[in-house]
Amino acid sequence: DTDPKKVKLGKDDVKGTRVRVFGRVHRERKQKMNTFLTLKDGYGYMQVLLQGDLAKTYDILTLTRETSMEILGELKEVPEGAKAPNDRELHADYFKIHDGWKAAGGDDAITNRVSKDTEHATLLDLRHLTLRGETASKVMIVRDAVEYAFNQAYRELRLRKVSPPALVQTQVEGGATLFKLPYYNEDAYLTQSSQLYLETCLPSMGDVYCIEKSFRAEKSLTRRHLAEYTHIEAELDFITFPDLLDHLEQIMCRVIEITMEDPVVKQSILDLNPEFQMPERPFKRMRYSEAIDWLIEHNIPNEDGEPHKFGDDIAEAAERRMTDIINRPIFLTHFPVEIKAFYMQKDKEDPRTTESVDCLMPGVGEIVGGSMRMDNLEELMAAFAREKLDPAPYFWYTDQRKYGSSPHGGYGLGLERFLAWLCKQHTVRDCCLYPRYFGRCKP
Ligand code: 4AD
Ligand code: MG
Repeated sequence: DTDPKKVKLGKDDVKGTRVRVFGRVHRERKQKMNTFLTLKDGYGYMQVLLQGDLAKTYDILTLTRETSMEILGELKEVPEGAKAPNDRELHADYFKIHDGWKAAGGDDAITNRVSKDTEHATLLDLRHLTLRGETASKVMIVRDAVEYAFNQAYRELRLRKVSPPALVQTQVEGGATLFKLPYYNEDAYLTQSSQLYLETCLPSMGDVYCIEKSFRAEKSLTRRHLAEYTHIEAELDFITFPDLLDHLEQIMCRVIEITMEDPVVKQSILDLNPEFQMPERPFKRMRYSEAIDWLIEHNIPNEDGEPHKFGDDIAEAAERRMTDIINRPIFLTHFPVEIKAFYMQKDKEDPRTTESVDCLMPGVGEIVGGSMRMDNLEELMAAFAREKLDPAPYFWYTDQRKYGSSPHGGYGLGLERFLAWLCKQHTVRDCCLYPRYFGRCKP
């Protein structure tokens, strides 16, 4: 007998009937004579049938879930009415356990430590093991596909990818959430956003994007705030505000389309979020002032428990209630100057407001923040003064307004929030490998 080909467990990868597979035991079900295993390898699952002596050997060796195995056998369709991943079953005739592959059984088995009732903090301490679970595994597979799809979609729109620094000496989104660190003999911060650096790339490279980590020293424990998150940011040159909104709609829909092209990824999304539907274009557009009226009409109070008024921040709770009731993506636009960042372009018709946009999704709220940028030097200097920011460390940013300024704009999208929406996860903490937030920096 020649050695059968080594195959991965995913549906499309397994060809021929006699195969050799590697994987870990995900589930086991013992009968009198036979043992059924579900093997996993990160590509998929396969049911394995150990008959007679093979089942006995499995027991004698006291093998348990999570043990790594090499198995040879005949791949067959499962009998009518029986259930197995991809309707197939491997009839094993040989298996092998290499030194050290055996999983600890008994009290040390991961299955004994991780149950549905395990506390959330314990689950997070055991993230290196809970990552093996079916839900976590699916979310991570979707995450990989989404990140890849953004790269492809940006290529199609002729944006170029750049990699701005993570160590910086300027803030973008306010001093309250800066992580400060010693940097040789100076102070530096972990970047909150690559936006200002992206703006400086426009003259040399045209439209640009980056997929980098951003850091926020958020001190609140919410289900959508991380201290370290993956920030997908883009900057577009010579555009208008309506161009920016059109682009945003296009990129989000195209990314979902590309992501769904892979059948394994599509199935993962539908398993996690059975009601998922491609958002309808155009997205609902709503001005900030209309949102305030809407919140008043619906008796949804502001953070002080009072009716909303123009100028109020729309806090997380109110925002989520609004998105859940409207139940479709919303472009919320034209926020007042006072509650937005210093760099935002003012609306020509109503200079109390900015050419700004937040994209809100049902179940999550804000997943994108963007705007047109102030392109006039004097106005920008006045904005620094208004925010009591020293413009000196921003010389490289203000210089852009001296040497060929242009109407331009961009946005940042939080990848974990996008995934929380797409995969219907309760918290962004479950949408990254090892979440970092107030009080947690391990494992
Ligand atoms: O709205 P933000 O703060 O906007 C910016 O940083 C802009 N400079 C981006 C730009 O125009 N290039 O952040 C953008 C997005 C938010 O909409 C949210 O999805 C995500 O980043 N985000 C966070 N995600 C997880 N944890 C946090 N603490 C986040 N803070 C922002
Ligand atoms: Mg924002």
